[in-house]
Amino acid sequence: MDLSGRSYIITGAASGIGKATAIILSKLGAKLLLLDINKGNLEQLHDSCENMVDTLVIDLTKSGDIKSLVKEKIAVFGKINGFVHCAGIPYISPLNAVNTEKSEMLYKLNTYAAIELAKVCSNKQVYVGEHGSFVLLSSVYGLVGSAANVVYAMSKAAIIGITRSLSIELAPKNIRVNCIAPGFVKTNMLAGNAGAFDDSYNQKLEALHPLGLGDADSIAEPIAFLLSDASRWITGAIINVDGGFTAQ
Ligand SMILES: NC(=O)c1ccc[n+]([C@@H]2O[C@H](COP(=O)([O-])OP(=O)(O)OC[C@H]3O[C@@H](n4cnc5c(N)ncnc54)[C@H](O)[C@@H]3O)[C@@H](O)[C@H]2O)c1
Repeated sequence: MDLSGRSYIITGAASGIGKATAIILSKLGAKLLLLDINKGNLEQLHDSCENMVDTLVIDLTKSGDIKSLVKEKIAVFGKINGFVHCAGIPYISPLNAVNTEKSEMLYKLNTYAAIELAKVCSNKQVYVGEHGSFVLLSSVYGLVGSAANVVYAMSKAAIIGITRSLSIELAPKNIRVNCIAPGFVKTNMLAGNAGAFDDSYNQKLEALHPLGLGDADSIAEPIAFLLSDASRWITGAIINVDGGFTAQ
């Protein structure tokens, strides 16, 4: 795969899957605009990318800021071919303890930010006009059920509907829209979740993946494929990258 001459926005680039994606896309020659709320980690990553990289510190729960801040930055950075929306947060909570404010915040980040990003990134002042590709992150929990996960599952199931609808709407603009639904991947998110459970749960979690738990590169590489011309006839696809989690 060769992404030289291509430019992409990556959200959630300061950690985990977004960070691994930035490093791989940079090696493949892409120019990157990295978005995250975590300024310190974003700046560190900036130094370890090989190609031209710029950063934008942004809180993606603030839907009203996305269009204006991205457009302002793109005017200097240059137009892009697409984006990858990796920023996201989990929310483990039994149903009776689900909090409305926290749920709305999670929805704004995990789900609605993808719509705002798609809106601005398909605009002719931002989109370069060819080889367009948007990649959204769902989860196995957008596909199958699990207890104490209703809000996160809502946000990730919605990403699947968004992917399919956008793929139809944006095909005339030569923009493909696809989604990856990861199983459990060893990142800060999983480390944060693990604290909510005991050791036996964590062992059971590993056993749910016939190929074992994933690492961030095992998601970042399929993302690179979906951005590249190697996937030029794939749009509206939901690709399970889950070590066999959903095959059982
Ligand atoms: N790790 C897993 O097991 C797993 C499994 C399935 C799906 N996913 C999904 O993959 C994506 C990436 O997950 P990860 O494991 O790399 O997580 P991570 O916690 O390592 O990284 C998430 C990034 O999002 C950023 N972020 C958080 N709130 C933000 C905000 N308001 N504005 C901008 N940036 C913000 C964080 O600073 C962080 O850099 C998420 O959408 C997640 O739901 C992860």
